Amino acid sequence: MQGAWNHQTVLLTEAVAALAINPDGHYVDATFGRGGHSRLILQQLSTRGRLTAFDKDPQAVVAAQELAASDGRFSIRHQGFCHLGELGAASADGVLMDLGVSSPQIDDPERGFSFRHDGPLDMRMDTTRGQSVAQWLETAEVSTLAEVIREYGEERFAQPVAKAIDRRRQERGPIRTTRELAEVVAGAVKTREPGKDPATRTFQAFRIFINAELEELQQALEASLHVLRPGGQLVVISFHSLEDRMVKQFMARHSRAVVDRRVPFAEPAPMQLIHVRRVMPSDAEVQGNPRSRSAVMRVAERTEAGA
Ligand SMILES: C[S@@+](CC[C@H](N)C(=O)[O-])C[C@H]1O[C@@H](n2cnc3c(N)ncnc32)[C@H](O)[C@@H]1O
Repeated sequence: MQGAWNHQTVLLTEAVAALAINPDGHYVDATFGRGGHSRLILQQLSTRGRLTAFDKDPQAVVAAQELAASDGRFSIRHQGFCHLGELGAASADGVLMDLGVSSPQIDDPERGFSFRHDGPLDMRMDTTRGQSVAQWLETAEVSTLAEVIREYGEERFAQPVAKAIDRRRQERGPIRTTRELAEVVAGAVKTREPGKDPATRTFQAFRIFINAELEELQQALEASLHVLRPGGQLVVISFHSLEDRMVKQFMARHSRAVVDRRVPFAEPAPMQLIHVRRVMPSDAEVQGNPRSRSAVMRVAERTEAGA
């Protein structure tokens, strides 16, 4: 079913405008997906410009390889964006990260991301490596389950959900499908949040955990300081508060001169970013693409070294 679903790119023109494209520059799309942002970036590059993309998902990589075959300015890496730093110091004029999952991933029952479709409980972005959620759930300790659900799902019924998963696997064997998990969670989450399926928070938590999403984001943010040239833009689109908080705190932390209080006469560490702005999708975009409703884009500029 490869490529059977389209991805409606969120904040397309806003994100590419925020990169302030220099036509001869080198840009990084850290989350290719189906290449909505990448294609618009390529339109704005000259024959000398270059675009390097990353994606963990083999299906996204196949789509990207087709683009690479027809456009010599573009290349794709089948890697997590935590490998961003491998691109080399001050090698990029802009880095874009459009976090989370793409519509083709959510809409394909075989990927196991959604409680709306029954399918194998997988949720890996990179299906060529690592454990699926179903495999992890077979042996995960109840305390670990509860911690993951609480931390990454911000679920107040984390403990009852973890216990319900444990009871279910002891009584009836491993949980193998998205529907089985959604049913177990629904039995343990006692308060319904308006407009939210009871399984939403647990599914989000397991997806973040199994893909090490927050660890990779932190590494990629740090690496962006290394790869961005002075004046280059860092543009990050987040879809939930845990990601956005991390991006906001990272930008704030590097937008200040840091004084080491233990060494009172030392020069303050220079600021490395200017936190430029925060952008939300327009009402029209949210109406046309409900998945954009939770998007928040933050933009920061790499300062001159030692500014
Ligand atoms: C929201 S989609 C990007 C959509 C893309 N901007 C477009 O317009 O088509 C996010 C993509 O990032 C990929 N992804 C998520 N986390 C990643 C990571 N840590 N490293 C590399 N790719 C990642 C996912 O596989 C998915 O294809």
